[in-house]
Amino acid sequence: MQLRILPCNPWLNFWPQITRMMSTDHFFNPRNVGDADEPRFAGRSASLACGAHVRFSIQVDEAHAISQARFRAAGCSDLVAAASLLTEQVVGLTTAAAATIEQEQADVDPQCARLAREALLDAIRDFSNAARDDWAGDEALICTCFFVSERTIEREIQARGLTTVAEVTSACNAGGGCGSCHQLIQEILATNDLPR
Ligand code: FES
Repeated sequence: MQLRILPCNPWLNFWPQITRMMSTDHFFNPRNVGDADEPRFAGRSASLACGAHVRFSIQVDEAHAISQARFRAAGCSDLVAAASLLTEQVVGLTTAAAATIEQEQADVDPQCARLAREALLDAIRDFSNAARDDWAGDEALICTCFFVSERTIEREIQARGLTTVAEVTSACNAGGGCGSCHQLIQEILATNDLPR
């Protein structure tokens, strides 16, 4: 058998330096610092270990896509870079897609990336709770991330004998985004009272 040596992609050799340069650039020139325009939805997260905290605010359009994302942070360079990068990544995404985004920040401290993502998730939950309260449709809306009504969830529970939130998520997506509807899904499960 002949061994074939493939030529190296030269970009791969420099990828760690390129991503490090990107995050350094986001620290020295952070994008989207401040607060999103009204109406805005905000979330926070903080680290007890290092004292850093970050605030995320978003504006969401009628199609539930994020039209603006801004942040304020007090912490290290990695936290500022992580939050700045995240604001750029989520604009244009639906809240459901943003809530489950995998950050491409291999060179940023994972704790800082997690802190920035938690603040974003908190802001998305703020939006979801408000959208649920404002909903004027015929059926009660439970999961605003995936537009799943109470009746649909009940139907899935009864048809498939579901007993956990994870099973409901896998059956109809409800609960698979920001997680703000988990308590409500739990209550619907309890009301339907199927044997556990
Ligand atoms: S409202 Fe976000 S996961 Fe259901």
